[in-house]
Amino acid sequence: MNEVIAPAVEVPIKDYRGSIRFWHWANALLISLQLITILFQKVIVNSRSAVPEFQQAMSKANVTITTKQGGAFAHIISERIWDWHIYFGWALVALWVMRLGLQLTGPSNLRFSARLMEILRRYRLAPPADKSQAGKILFAKTTYALFYLFLTIMVATGLIMIYEDTAFFGPMHHTAEEIHNVTMYLIIGFILIHVVGVVWAESKEDHGLISRMVGGEAPNIKA
Ligand code: HEM
Repeated sequence: MNEVIAPAVEVPIKDYRGSIRFWHWANALLISLQLITILFQKVIVNSRSAVPEFQQAMSKANVTITTKQGGAFAHIISERIWDWHIYFGWALVALWVMRLGLQLTGPSNLRFSARLMEILRRYRLAPPADKSQAGKILFAKTTYALFYLFLTIMVATGLIMIYEDTAFFGPMHHTAEEIHNVTMYLIIGFILIHVVGVVWAESKEDHGLISRMVGGEAPNIKA
């Protein structure tokens, strides 16, 4: 009996659609902007620690400012920076919704979960000689899965803090703030691993990786 074996279907493990590329770079920009607001808030401006300097400068002009008055001024500066953090935060919420939409409505074989499963399958089936390469791909994809989790935590805790004045979110405010703070370090860790990994892959074995994430995949030209 002639058995008909179905041809193997090539399941893609990468997705360079225009919408994903836009999401990637917009997200990278907004996370950088968020980190910059924190750098200004906590280090460069650090308005609370500037209060004594402010008092000293005013005293030179023969104006006495109490610590409370100085604190009120510092609060205004600090609030301005937080306002920007929240604007960028809303843009990140919009991108999060967009990514969820792409995951739920895009072609099923291009969904992140489908690609992750395919990479896991390839890792399990890889012969010993290819195991290390398959393992690297699986590691990279796992860091992306974690990154999506961190982003979801950032968006959720950020929204809780925005609505801290409501009876529902008020009691969660402190915990949300702590989680938001810790997750920032996890995101910084991801960014470091991601950038080093991408530059390493680009230079060693996956030439053109970065330009594909900018311009998309070149169409298959058949002679
Ligand atoms: C992924 C990028 C983000 C980073 C690195 C980041 C980092 C931070 C950090 C370190 C704080 C200070 C927490 C503390 O004082 O202990 C903070 C506060 C805050 N973040 Fe974010 N955040 C990000 C995204 C977001 C998003 C997406 C939102 C909104 C949806 C948001 C809304 C807020 C709010 C409302 C506060 C409190 C501001 C205040 O005290 O007035 N953040 N963020």
